[in-house]
Amino acid sequence: MIYLDYNATTPIHPDVKKAMEPFWDKEFGNPSCSYTLGKKAYRAIEKARAQVASLINARENEIVFTSGGTESNNTVFKGILWALKKRGNHVITTQIEHPSIINPALFMEQLGFEISFVPPNKEGIVDPQEIKRHIKKETVLISVMHANNETGAIQPIAEISKMAKEYNIVLHSDAAQSLGKIRVDVNKLGVDLLTIAGHKLYAPKGIGALYVRKDIPFLPLIHGAGQEMGRRAGTENVPYIVALGKACEILQKRLANGENERIAYLRDKLWNGIKDLNVVRFSPPICLPNTLFVGFKGLLGQDVLNAIPEILASTGAACHSKEIKLSHVLAAMGVSFEEGKGAVRFSIGYFSTEEEINRAIELIREQVPKLQEKTSK
Ligand SMILES: Cc1ncc(COP(=O)(O)O)c(C=O)c1O
Repeated sequence: MIYLDYNATTPIHPDVKKAMEPFWDKEFGNPSCSYTLGKKAYRAIEKARAQVASLINARENEIVFTSGGTESNNTVFKGILWALKKRGNHVITTQIEHPSIINPALFMEQLGFEISFVPPNKEGIVDPQEIKRHIKKETVLISVMHANNETGAIQPIAEISKMAKEYNIVLHSDAAQSLGKIRVDVNKLGVDLLTIAGHKLYAPKGIGALYVRKDIPFLPLIHGAGQEMGRRAGTENVPYIVALGKACEILQKRLANGENERIAYLRDKLWNGIKDLNVVRFSPPICLPNTLFVGFKGLLGQDVLNAIPEILASTGAACHSKEIKLSHVLAAMGVSFEEGKGAVRFSIGYFSTEEEINRAIELIREQVPKLQEKTSK
């Protein structure tokens, strides 16, 4: 098995697994309890909060733990948008966001908010001027993802931030895909809100966080007792919070020691090994170092992956009731059906090896020409 789907999810890092282990049974206390067992759990959460904050250059009290990227995005579009309502009811987002942004946005549209979905250019990058064109006096929130999950395209968040500041608009960025793959600094990016998803960065599924800059109006998505400084009720998932903190600590070191250059080298090697196979590249030059989104011309992405079951990767087109539909990202980029239907996303991670990439190239070079010959007959 050659796992090339790290943008879908990552395995838990062994040190992360080790860090969370005591909190299943030995250190099982409720962090709200005042005896030692409870206090130890509380302190473990606060340590994790500091680890997450450190990775993104935030303050500890600006981190709210959630159940994942989807909940963080829903908190922004429901709780925070509701808190901003007295200022205005217009939101600007993009056509290439993850469904956990697009669907809450459409839901809020039904409740009376107005949402502008800005298209990207043909490289899948959103032009800040295009965002500016949509700003009006009722605009209270701009939400643009940091890096796209399919193409890996990195969006010009710092530039968008300058405009947001100029017009006093709250800026959110979904960094589920970028965190741990490139440096993410909330102050350099100039964001007020940032989404974090644990399972994209070697922590378990079902844990995440939302960065909330001090003084940003906030209403919770989940009401209950006073956990998470009153911002997210429910007894904390201590083992997973500890895991997220540890994963952030590991990634901070890896980013500092240039590990991502190795990943970019493997990604480039994969591209150079297959680019002569009548294939188009959808990932633009300004892109996550681990992501290679390509289209095998004349073929179906799923047929390519079916022919090479050893490689685990994702397609960019899905079959809905016998009809092939391009992903909303490719459609927004204006990719033709012929090119887009052959889309396959390879995404590399910390456990990928050069041997795996060599083998993947070998397998693709073996199978794709055979498929191309079959379909041209
Ligand atoms: C860009 C982006 N945002 C949000 C999410 C959702 O995160 P989670 O799976 O933790 O709910 C994902 C996951 O695929 C994603 O890629």
